[in-house]
This record gives sequence, C-alpha cells and structure tokens, in this order.
Amino acid sequence: ARIAMVMPRSKEELSWRLKLAAHLLPKGAELWLAGHAREGIKSCAKTLRALFGSVTTVRTKRHCRVLVARLDQDSPGEPSLLEHERRFTHELSSGERLELATAPGTFAHGRVDHGARAMLRVVESVSQASRVLDLGAGAGLLGATLAKRFPEAEVDLVDHSASAFASVQRMVELNGFDASRVRAHLASVGQAPSGPYDCIVTNPPFHEGRHQNRTLVDEFADSARSRLARGGTLLLVANRHLGYADALRSRFAYVDVAQEDTRFRVWRAKGVR
Ligand SMILES: C[S@@+](CC[C@H](N)C(=O)[O-])C[C@H]1O[C@@H](n2cnc3c(N)ncnc32)[C@H](O)[C@@H]1O
Repeated sequence: ARIAMVMPRSKEELSWRLKLAAHLLPKGAELWLAGHAREGIKSCAKTLRALFGSVTTVRTKRHCRVLVARLDQDSPGEPSLLEHERRFTHELSSGERLELATAPGTFAHGRVDHGARAMLRVVESVSQASRVLDLGAGAGLLGATLAKRFPEAEVDLVDHSASAFASVQRMVELNGFDASRVRAHLASVGQAPSGPYDCIVTNPPFHEGRHQNRTLVDEFADSARSRLARGGTLLLVANRHLGYADALRSRFAYVDVAQEDTRFRVWRAKGVR
C-alpha cells in the first residue's frame, strides 16, 4: 500500500491529512508527498519524521520536491477532522444567529465567503420554500439560512468534500436542527438527491486547484436543471467577470439578475428548458 498526495493549502488540513495517511497505512508502507517550497514542503520533513519515522527526498526540481515517508511504527488511531475546527457565528438580518464550524479543508475555512455574503441578501428575501437544495454547500451557510427562515422546509446540503460534509453535520448539530429535516450529503452535485426542489441555492466553484475553470458551472447548472420543481427558483452567485448568462439561458427559460454589486452577481433562473 502507498498513498500519494500533494500539499494541501492550509497547515491544519495538512496536519489532518498526514495523520489520516498514517492511520490508513499499514506498518512499513509509504506516503509520497509532493509540494513547492512556498507551500512549506521543506519544513514538512520534520513533521513527517515525527509521525512516520524515516523520510527521504526522492526528487527536487524547480523549488518542488517529493518526500517519501515510511511508517516505522504501528498505525495510529483515526484523527478527527474536527480537531482543528474553526467556530464562528453569522448574524442574519433578522437578528437571528447561525452557529458554524468549519473543518480544515472546507471552503472559506472559519469565515463567510464574500460571494456567499452577497448571495445571503437575496436568500434572506426568499418568500417561500418547502424543499431546498444547497449545491456545493461548504460550511452550509446558505442552506442553514433557509432552514432557519422556513422551519418546516426540508433542506438537503450537498458537497463532495469530506471536510465540508463534516462541517455541515456540525452546523446541523450546533443550531439544533433536526438531522432528518436538514440533511448533509457527501456527494458530487450530479449525485445529489433527486428532489424536486422549489428553491436551489449555489455558490459554484470556478477554480480547480490554482487554475480557473469556467466550465465547472455546467455540472452545477445541469444538476439544478434536473432537480428544479415546476415553478421553482435557482439562485446562483458568481463573480461578475464570469459570464454565466449563456450557461443559465441554455438551461432555463427565465434568467435575470436578482442583485449585483461591484464584485458579485446573483443570478435567478426559473422554468427548465
Ligand atoms: C465556492 S464554494 C461555496 C461553498 C458555500 N456554498 C459558500 O457559499 O460558502 C463551492 C463548494 O462546492 C464544492 N464542490 C465543488 N465541486 C463539487 C462537485 N462536483 N460536487 C459537489 N460539491 C462540489 C466545494 O467542495 C465547495 O465546498
């Protein structure tokens, strides 16, 4: 057995991933870790040595290196994703408060994303919702806002990241939501529950690693298209420079801008084509 990984963005996520790798590997197996000097790959050797035992550098090129660590002892227990969680509170315009906790690796770890904040102004003005889908939920703030506003609504929050999934589960617990009503799903948007939903909210990604990818929105728009109830509304927030009008107009009959500021546009789409 062998595990290969690249350096994750945050130190907390790195710490969790290394402990998880040590837990998953049998004694004598190897972890291969690649990273750039500016990501801290050099100082990682010390951490790896403490966790695994022996460490060697097998390749160095253009400030990047590959480290191989061999697990010299028995596998340690499973680390908790929530060991390094960051707690924060978000106050809604109604004055109600939402408690959030993000596990390392969750998008916008420990804070409210600017795009989500722009979206919240529109989400807080939704007048009715009975079945809600939050696609790419992250810490679950958008879905949680609707769960709070509409205590009878069923809310599904979907994310393919294990960190986000753990964060959504914490959000449900911290706010005292009934987990059979406000449900976390570890799934890709294409595998989300089938609905149909009268309200779908999403803040889709447009980066894959460090690179922009404007086609990521297609998977989200397709998922929303096949899950939106007749008469239902999709709300999608994106940076203004991302031209998502075509992606939405090709799938929905009525598309307009619910709100925009200097950085973000909140799109509203209805009527599946
Ligand atoms: C821009 S973040 C938005 C998070 C959160 N909704 C917010 O507004 O703060 C996009 C989220 O989508 C998730 N994601 C990206 N691609 C996905 C996919 N194919 N299926 C499910 N989730 C995905 C990421 O893990 C990330 O949490």
